[in-house]
Amino acid sequence: MTFPQDRLRRLRRTETIRRMVRETRLQTADFIYPLFVTGGVGVKEPIESMPGIYRFSVDNIFKEVEEACELGIFAFLLFSTPSYKDEKGTSAYDPDEVLQYAIKLLKEKYPEILLVTDVCICSYTNHGHCGLIKGKEILNDPTLDILAKVALTHVQAGADMIAPSDMMDGRVKVLRTSLDKKGYSHIPIMSYAVKYASAFYCPFREASHSSPQFGDRSSYQMDPANIREALRETQQDVLEGADIIMIKPALSYLDVIRTVRENINCPLAAYNVSGEYSMVKAAAANGWLDERKVVLEKLLAIKRAGADIICTYHAKDAARWINKEH
Ligand code: PBG
Repeated sequence: MTFPQDRLRRLRRTETIRRMVRETRLQTADFIYPLFVTGGVGVKEPIESMPGIYRFSVDNIFKEVEEACELGIFAFLLFSTPSYKDEKGTSAYDPDEVLQYAIKLLKEKYPEILLVTDVCICSYTNHGHCGLIKGKEILNDPTLDILAKVALTHVQAGADMIAPSDMMDGRVKVLRTSLDKKGYSHIPIMSYAVKYASAFYCPFREASHSSPQFGDRSSYQMDPANIREALRETQQDVLEGADIIMIKPALSYLDVIRTVRENINCPLAAYNVSGEYSMVKAAAANGWLDERKVVLEKLLAIKRAGADIICTYHAKDAARWINKEH
């Protein structure tokens, strides 16, 4: 059947019909809200390149978490700026550091939330790389032991899920094995399996003080030109024990989300990263875009491409808008 019998506009006539035949829906349960925690008391430092996003001290993070929960967001991804940095990222696995403290207090106060922690050392090393270094080289295998220590302090503090974002080879296997050995076989791993060496992370690096002090991350993060390699990364991580696969960034990589979705069966997360957030905020501040419409459209696009879970700094705003629509 073709035109004039077939008319696709019939199902677009009213909002009620459109809602009925809608193929993709956003819900607040899709979101993971990233949070930056820092030392001190009463701190709420704005991150200049990410309007609306702050570094919170632990006492202030409670309010942010409460607000999110009221909007229907119960999953959080925690990052931190530690009190000291060294070449080996020791503060990343210091049980007395701010992140471990925040995890503990948050889980005590809100046992029902899902706390996911970023497992990486770039915010904790003085060189800003995600692995140990030797000269200008980023070492793979020696970094794995450090990551295992980091993850252990997170789950001991009460983290519900760990998210390794370092892109070292073999880290999912090492993390799974070490967690299992220590009695944490119930803790899922959300692996940043497909993480590109992207220029869209720039505002995040301001937020978490994690810019590499020499070179860049292209010897461990993926080349933006590659998609077959994304399948190799995901297949490896699934075999090594990843429970959820993350793709990052999201918007310039919707084809990667779709391709990975068609090839694996575990839940898929996409990270709508800092640069993707800042672009919309900047345009909206200038009155060039309708922030509400653009944000909901892009989050929907990430879901339509195949993501089940979206990590996004827009989470609270998007939740507000979604709740209003219903
Ligand atoms: C740490 C890490 C980064 C992001 C998440 N975890 C930065 C990087 O790899 O340089 C980026 C998140 C964002 O841009 O929102 N390795």
